[in-house]
Amino acid sequence: MGLLERYEDLFPLTSATPRISLGEGNTPFLPLRNVGKSLGVKLYGKVEGANPTGSFKDRGMVLAVAKALEGRARAVVCASTGNTSASAAAYSAAAGLPCYVILPAGKVARGKLAQALIYGAKVLAVRGNFDKALELAMAASDEWRLAIVNSVNPYRLWGQRSGAWEICDELGRAPDWCVLPVGNAGNITAYWAGFVQYRRMGKCQGVPRMVGVQAQGASPLVSGVECDKPETVATAIRIGRPVNAQKARAAVKMSGGFFMAVSDEEILEAQSLLASREGVFAEPASCAPLAGLMRLKRDGKLPQATTIAMILTGNGLKDPDTAMSKAGEPVEVDGTMEALRKVMAP
Ligand code: F0G
Repeated sequence: MGLLERYEDLFPLTSATPRISLGEGNTPFLPLRNVGKSLGVKLYGKVEGANPTGSFKDRGMVLAVAKALEGRARAVVCASTGNTSASAAAYSAAAGLPCYVILPAGKVARGKLAQALIYGAKVLAVRGNFDKALELAMAASDEWRLAIVNSVNPYRLWGQRSGAWEICDELGRAPDWCVLPVGNAGNITAYWAGFVQYRRMGKCQGVPRMVGVQAQGASPLVSGVECDKPETVATAIRIGRPVNAQKARAAVKMSGGFFMAVSDEEILEAQSLLASREGVFAEPASCAPLAGLMRLKRDGKLPQATTIAMILTGNGLKDPDTAMSKAGEPVEVDGTMEALRKVMAP
């Protein structure tokens, strides 16, 4: 069952909203025992890479595209660092809507680019960063009356609340902390709204502290100033002017949480640890939260025995180039046992 059917009562649906689905949501909520133990916390990972296009964006896209269909939109448009465009292109394809994608040229991971193209979107790579691309997507949406499916679209964020609901359903309560990577600051806002809505409906006890982790080279929510030249290996969150900054600040403050920034090196270290100790391959941006927790632990600032939900927002397969820059290449040998014996010693 897709998200729209499963949470029919919690979404703003009408009888005219088509219940489309590509099988999004209901992703694994994995106990990460090995890493959790070394951090001294009860750690869970919400594996959003298991969504149909490999990221959390599908949760919001299913509702945004359903609403675009209901409103008889001519086409869909978005700016993206990669995942939004993959998701928009897939849901538009299934819905029979044309999709226009505006990307920062040269700064989108190959897998994501391949997705947008193969799903049949019209992909435009602009010379400029994501913030410029979003400005253009909004202007294009106004000029041609296209449905914009970035997180300025309230249905996107509403759909993304479902991640918080699933976590509460699974835990039987809200976690103590919910840690997310932050780029355009939509998802952290959506999760907070999801937890608050669920508590208000009596479906869970408490709400978590929201912890937002940015990449050091693109950390306007930590520094307090917009960033003109964002730069990070975690291209998904290479954003200098987050459109949801105000809402995200309010959410984090209300929850008693905080923002922090981590270096590219820390992100890659966390990515490799998550893969090699837990068997979970998440993309670089998705590993910023773990990098943040590792830093807090080192600084003696991680309260022990805390129940922590980490949102692993995207699949590692989307960006093999970055993973291999850290993990290296396979060892090539002749096809003989003699050659194997020299390098293999179980
Ligand atoms: N993690 C991943 C894998 C992402 O793709 C994004 C955002 C984020 C985290 C941050 O979420 O923007 O709601 O704070 N990707 C957008 C995109 C910008 O275009 O795919 P946010």
